[in-house]
Amino acid sequence: MEMKDLLMELSLRAKAKIEEAEGPDKLNEARIAFLGKKGELTSILKGMKNVKPEDRPEVGQLVNDTREKIEKWLDESRTAFEAKIREEKLKSEVIDVTLPARKARFGHRHPNSIALDEVERIFIGMGYEVVEGPEVEYADYNFTKLNIPEDHPARDEQDTFFITDEILLRSQTSPVQARKMEEGVLPIRMIAPGRVFRSDEVDATHSPSFHQIEGLVIDRNITFADLKGTLEEFAKELFGPETKTKFRPHHFPFTEPSAEVDVSCFKCGGKGCRFCKGSGWIEILGCGTVHPNVLRMCGIDPEEYTGFAFGVGLERIALLKYEIDDMRLLYENDIRFLKQF
Ligand code: DAH
Repeated sequence: MEMKDLLMELSLRAKAKIEEAEGPDKLNEARIAFLGKKGELTSILKGMKNVKPEDRPEVGQLVNDTREKIEKWLDESRTAFEAKIREEKLKSEVIDVTLPARKARFGHRHPNSIALDEVERIFIGMGYEVVEGPEVEYADYNFTKLNIPEDHPARDEQDTFFITDEILLRSQTSPVQARKMEEGVLPIRMIAPGRVFRSDEVDATHSPSFHQIEGLVIDRNITFADLKGTLEEFAKELFGPETKTKFRPHHFPFTEPSAEVDVSCFKCGGKGCRFCKGSGWIEILGCGTVHPNVLRMCGIDPEEYTGFAFGVGLERIALLKYEIDDMRLLYENDIRFLKQF
């Protein structure tokens, strides 16, 4: 075959190879096969010596043209591949700005936390400070300094989790009173929220671990009237301005006199309903005037200072405020329940 025909045939095959290449790798293979050092064009060039000298310039030109042609096709094809890759990348990164945004998921506050915040807000507003005490406590603070005698039923192992004879899980937040009084900085106006423990079976109104908020005021000339005024104000703030309060005589070892406080049912206004079990009243806390023995044991002279104290169950407040009828709901952390707050 003549050199010209050879080159023509070669360029046709090269064109076909380039056109059918599926990607940059195949293109590269074609380049090596046709233009490489051991490629077909090189081996054709080796046949130049058989070409007549007068024909050599023409054939030489033809070889160069063929090389350029093939290079041009390779380049065009490569550019096309690159464009395609770029386009696909853009497509895959497309953002639909008209798509509705995914809703951010917010956590919810636990009813206990909401209720505690509310109680703290009210007392901080009256000038109280919020203090804390340990959950693992000495029997001395949990009982003795609170005037709870050795043979008091509250000391029974059936009610209290003892760690040793002297150390226990506090069964009430009242020991924080004793700790605060012992610091000896007077006057005192404090609330002490915290976790308490009792060996109770779990049911709709009991749990082995729950929360109380202790209150204590110590100053000169504090009377039961101050206690009444304070707790009446507290009840109105917490349950609404229409709320009435009733003080029923009661007994606590650390207060004398002592009382339990009922509020008029905020659901029926006192007429009697399912919520207040028909009585029109709901019990919310225990309170009283601090017993002189407690003051004395905590280093305060009862002739000079007097005070009042109260203890509120936090869960009780949360259950009442949000009309929850089973305390277990507060501990199970069921998202479907918690989501409602
Ligand atoms: N600590 C008491 C209890 O767990 C509640 C209580 C009643 C606290 C009267 C007080 C108080 O400070 O004065 O039942």
